[in-house]
Amino acid sequence: MISIKSQREIDIMKEAGHINYLTHQELKKALKPGITTNELNIIADKFIRSHGAIPSSLNYEGFPKSICISVNDEVVHGIPSNRKIKNGDVVSIDITVRFKGYESDSANTYIVGDASEKVTNLVENTKNALYEGLKVVKAGVKLNEVSKSIEDYAHLNGLSVVEELVGHGIGTSMHEDPDVPNFYTKSTVILKEGMTICVEPMLNLGKKDVYIDDNDWTIKTVDGLPSAHFEHTIVVTKNGYELLTGE
Ligand code: MF3
Ligand code: CO
Ligand code: CO
Repeated sequence: MISIKSQREIDIMKEAGHINYLTHQELKKALKPGITTNELNIIADKFIRSHGAIPSSLNYEGFPKSICISVNDEVVHGIPSNRKIKNGDVVSIDITVRFKGYESDSANTYIVGDASEKVTNLVENTKNALYEGLKVVKAGVKLNEVSKSIEDYAHLNGLSVVEELVGHGIGTSMHEDPDVPNFYTKSTVILKEGMTICVEPMLNLGKKDVYIDDNDWTIKTVDGLPSAHFEHTIVVTKNGYELLTGE
């Protein structure tokens, strides 16, 4: 069932999304060679709680930390640890914030220090792919047009699309209907005003194949090449969309 949110609900989701955005800004400042992913996790956990919100990834289906940090060949669901960030690392940070009973979900990928042109393009084009998808969004449009737009942009730029994980609806729960794939499917879902969804391309520099790490959470590329991930929570409007996890 795909729920349509009232203006009151959207306003709360905007508050949750704003705290999410601010948390990303805090982590961006702290992200430097030598910091551990655990230290970034602690900064995020404290920051979110200081705003009266909850880092809802903690204990979500048993996830052991407050945010996800995925480095290099880790696609998503990286678990913060004593791993130190190094020059040239590709670091994806995915944050969920729960506020007044509503969720927000947003991810960014950063290159720490120097990287090759190929890796720089991976990160820039994954971000572009998210906005290529969002460009298509408005009430009345088929959801699979958004998916196709992301896929086409990725392939045009020589990147592969991870198929095992998809975007999703969001609201009082982190994951709601509908699925929002980053590749074309025969989905018959039509976007409607007031739907709140997370669009989140996960693109690989090499092949699309991934596997789950021994920790039972972290998704990694089979070929060991880097992956990038960008995500926004949005509300569908009559003429387009509004970012709920934007500035
Ligand atoms: N933020 C992820 C998503 O985009 C979900 C993370 S759940 C966790 O859907 F348990 F891994 F944190
Ligand atoms: Co997320
Ligand atoms: Co998500």
